[in-house]
This record gives sequence, structure tokens and C-alpha cells, in this order.
Amino acid sequence: MDRIAITGGEPLCGQIAISGAKNSAIKLMAASLLTDAPLRLTNMPRLADTRLMGALLRRLGAEIEEREGPDGSETVLTTREIVSAFAPYDLVRQMRASFNVLGPLLARSGHAKVSLPGGCEIGARPVDLHLEALRALGAQIDLHEGYIYAQAPRGLKGGRVEFPFSSVGATEHAMLAAVLADGVTELVGAAREPEIIDLAQCLGAMGARIEGAGTSHIVITGVGSLSGADYAVAPDRIEAGTYAMAVAMAGGEVRLTRARAEDIAALLDKMEQAGVEVERLNDGLIVRRNGARLRAVDVETSPYPGFPTDLQAQFMALMSLAEGESVVRETVFENRFMHVPELRRMGADITTTGREARVRGVERLEGAPVMATDLRASVGLVIAGLAARGETVVDRVYHLDRGFERLEDKLSACGAKVRRLTNGGGV
Ligand code: EPZ
Repeated sequence: MDRIAITGGEPLCGQIAISGAKNSAIKLMAASLLTDAPLRLTNMPRLADTRLMGALLRRLGAEIEEREGPDGSETVLTTREIVSAFAPYDLVRQMRASFNVLGPLLARSGHAKVSLPGGCEIGARPVDLHLEALRALGAQIDLHEGYIYAQAPRGLKGGRVEFPFSSVGATEHAMLAAVLADGVTELVGAAREPEIIDLAQCLGAMGARIEGAGTSHIVITGVGSLSGADYAVAPDRIEAGTYAMAVAMAGGEVRLTRARAEDIAALLDKMEQAGVEVERLNDGLIVRRNGARLRAVDVETSPYPGFPTDLQAQFMALMSLAEGESVVRETVFENRFMHVPELRRMGADITTTGREARVRGVERLEGAPVMATDLRASVGLVIAGLAARGETVVDRVYHLDRGFERLEDKLSACGAKVRRLTNGGGV
């Protein structure tokens, strides 16, 4: 199993190009099931999760071609016909978002058998809202032996879906199912994340009629069929926010090209309150911190446009070195503090009660062997390692590989001492 070794203490200086967003890319890939024509996605990140989605889509009938084009990495997906409407447990359990093929399969072939994803490291993560949305569109849904059996023999029908609280995945799932449904679908209480807008724009380029994406009220008028399209995946706001915090931790000055400051406004405001300099540009941002210690700032995660749960671990790492005490509240997932014991191993002073963590800033962190527990927690440990004295070795980096493209290369190019230790390699 690969590990990542970081020798802390080097400031970061230079430029990092932000990749296409993982959490958009995998849903856009699923959208390709809705048409028999090619969907060409550019600015595609090459990640373990996009590979997994590709493996599943191939089983369902997609032909997938990956190439390097003038606009970076691109993937062309063509599903002339659905050869199987079955998504097995061994694939869905590895990546929950693959559950989102259920809607497109139902829309295109009228039936599907898709494994329930099961729980995961950060919480129980049920899919009840996904299933309610599909039922509101006329799907018949049964559960047997861990599998969802869904049917819509006469096609899905437009309907009204009321979400009791914001869910990114359920909103996307409802959109993917409703674009080919007969009639108008209204999504009330929809999630407003930038990834929802990305999916709506891609589906729009394929001929779907969607209004209101990015607000909590989305209206979709079903169409008879969708065409192929060329679409560029939006930049990854979580990757951008993570590197912004890496600079804030290690010190230095880095330009994050292609980052969209408006997508991470909640984070950038908090970073500025803590004393980090942020310059917002048309095509990116510059993050700068020279010398002075940061101030403690409280954060509470919430759905967009609130502070993203996917940046909470990294912000906690940052606060572990700030002056004073900060309170970090996690309201989206019930078990998203697994990085706390690992940060403590590096000398951080953090205590948790339920969904609240109190972080008392220390003057310095010490490098230590630590273990990655999920994607965002692991990158929080990496950025803590950049600021720690000595060497930090992060184990189980397969979590990182799910969502950060060429992390070691991007950080090393800015002067960080980061290297990957491949299976069996010593420190
Ligand atoms: C997406 O997960 C992201 N994943 C997550 O990123 C992200 O943390 C999350 O949105 C919140 O922003 C992908 O896009 C692939 P939700 P998702 O449905 O869609 C509960 C990462 O590291 N809920 O908005 O699964 C759920 O348990 C990942 O890249 C139900 O109760 O998140 C959670 O508490 C981690 N029933 C809350 O809603 C449901 O049917 C919000 O989850 C669905 C969700």
C-alpha cells in the first residue's frame, strides 16, 4: 500500500493548476447513459473514482475512450445501448456515487437492479431521498437482498419532489431521471452546490430543459431524447480550497489557476478573517501568508453556499496552528472527525464533543506516522505535514488517490518536500 512522506517546513511558492472537479465528473459520466450519442467531457480529472465510474459504465454498455486533447484530458463516452441494467455490490460499495446510475438506467431502459451502497467512513449516508425522488417520478421500487429493483415499464412521469433537507446526490439523481420523463418535474428544496449547476449545464448541452439549477427550486421539462455534447468539467472547488489552505499552513505565495473564488467564498472569507491574504482574479486566485501567526476562527459546515464539509478537516488542520481557540462544528455528516486522533498524534490540541471540536492552537506540529481514514481527512493530514517539524508519513493514501490528481507533483512543483513511497519502499 502506498504512503506519502512529507518533510515539513518549506514554504510553497509558484503556481498550481486546479483540475476538473471529481464530484462533477463522476455525475457527468453517469449522464452519458441517457443518450446513444457520444458525450465528450474535457478537463477530466484522472482519479481512482473516475476510473471506477468508467468500469461500471462499461459493464452497463458504455464505450469509453480516454485521450489527451488540446483542452487537457478528455473522455468520450458512448452508450449505443444499455447492455445490462445491473450495478453490482462490488462496484457500488467502492464508490457511493455509482448508485446514481439507477436513475439514468430507469429513464433509458425502464428497469434497473442496483446495489444499495451501504454505510461509509463518514456516516450512515442513507439513500432514502434518492428513492423518494424516483418514486415521485413514477418508479416502482423494491428492495431484496441488498439490491434495489426499480421499474418504470411505461417510462418515468414528471412529478413534484420535495426534499426535506439538502442532498447533493439526491438532487442530481432526480435531475438525471427527470430529463427524459414525460412532463414537468419540480424539485423543491434542491441542493444548490456548483456541481448541480455543472450537471444542469451539461444536460442542457445535451438538449435537456432545466431551469433554476443553483437555486432551491429546479424545474425540468422532460424531452423525448437527448443528444451527445462537448462539455468542459468545472474546476474542483475542494481541490482549490485545499491548496489555498496548504499555502496558509506552510506559508509562501501560490497562484491557483482555474480556481473559481466565488465557489469557495465561505472558505476564503474565513481564511481572510484568520489573517491569510487572498487575491481574487478572473482566472484563479493568489493565496499568500508571510510570517505572522494566524488567528483562531470558528466554522460550521453546511450545504452550499455555507462552509463545505469537504474542507472541514483541512480547516481544522489550519486552526491547529492558529493563535487562540476555535470551534469547528460539523452539521452535514455525523462521523467526520476521524482526522482528530491523527492530528493529535502530530501534537494538535483538539477535543471533540458530539459534532463539535474545540481546537486550541499550538505553536508547532511535529511530524509523525499517521493514517488516512477518508479522502478529505487524509489531505488534511498532508497539509498539516507541510507545516510540521520533521517527517510525516501518511499511510493508506489510496483514499487520497480517489480525489486528488497528481498531489505530490503539484505540491513538489511549489517547493514542498513530498514523495510517494510505493509498496515496500522504505522511508
Ligand atoms: C456529496 O455527497 C459529495 N460526494 C460529498 O463529497 C460531499 O461531502 C457531500 O455531497 C456534501 O457536500 C459526491 O458528490 C460524490 P448529500 P452526497 O446527499 O451527495 C444525508 C467527497 O469527499 N442523506 O448532500 O452523498 C446524508 O447522510 C465526498 O468528495 C440522507 O439522509 O451528500 C448527509 O448527512 C464525501 N438521505 C446529508 O444528507 C439521502 O437519501 C447530505 O448528504 C441522501 C443524503
